[in-house]
Amino acid sequence: MDIFTSKMDLQRHVQALKSVGKTIGFVPTMGFLHEGHLKLVERSVAENDITIMSIFVNPLQFGPNEDYDAYPRNPDKDQVLAKQAGVDVLFMPDSSDMYDQEHAFHIHVLQRTDRLCGKSRPGHFDGVVTILMKLFHIVGPNRVYFGLKDAQQISVVDSLINYFDFPIELVAVETVREQDGLARSSRNVYLTNLERKEAPYLYKALKMGEQQILQGERNVERITQMIHEYIEKNTSGKIDYIELLSFPELRSLSSIQGKVILAIAVQFTRARLIDNTILTVGN
Ligand code: PAF
Repeated sequence: MDIFTSKMDLQRHVQALKSVGKTIGFVPTMGFLHEGHLKLVERSVAENDITIMSIFVNPLQFGPNEDYDAYPRNPDKDQVLAKQAGVDVLFMPDSSDMYDQEHAFHIHVLQRTDRLCGKSRPGHFDGVVTILMKLFHIVGPNRVYFGLKDAQQISVVDSLINYFDFPIELVAVETVREQDGLARSSRNVYLTNLERKEAPYLYKALKMGEQQILQGERNVERITQMIHEYIEKNTSGKIDYIELLSFPELRSLSSIQGKVILAIAVQFTRARLIDNTILTVGN
């Protein structure tokens, strides 16, 4: 596995690979790798000649009161895991290389961000698309891999790729879960012992909602209310949102039909957990 910290060196390396016709799969991450990331790598390795992973905790996507400084980091372990998983090229720039000039632009996302995490994290997706545009230009991948746990991120990246005509295929990969259903996340390490026991109720709640829809419930309010009560009863977390929307457009539903997402965010003491389920509903 080759490791690059300079974007110029990486660009040169990528150009050489492309000149001999290699296809490139790209897995952008913020490190502290877990099964979820490794699943993305597995898929990329299966579908491309070369897999490039980036590890960069992007300051631009953290709000002033968020956990940028405290975001978990373990670059040494990440290198071992990335190599074992089959990553060919690891890009680990530091902040001064990625943002080596004054900010001359502010990229602002106008759609798909006024609800779910975008609503409670203003500016977050502006930071995500800024770093992704830079990384897409540096890496020039054929395919890019994202986990469905961050479904709003997938929705925004889908729009980014279409709007700016990046010749990149977006691949959305199923959420990896613990045995008890808790979605894998770098932030799970922040849960207290009690919260860790409560956390699987998020997924149970989503499954319950899904079941209701499959059994014919078509009232959005009733479904979200039921989930609300269930989460309040079984966890000590504070509910940020529970929403049922169209996917990937993230619009309110006049009727529960077609591809829909049931999404949830709960704030525990130190960890804010998100999860979702996406389903297709017939008439
Ligand atoms: O999902 C993440 O880890 C980040 O938002 C991403 C896509 C690597 C951009 O910094």
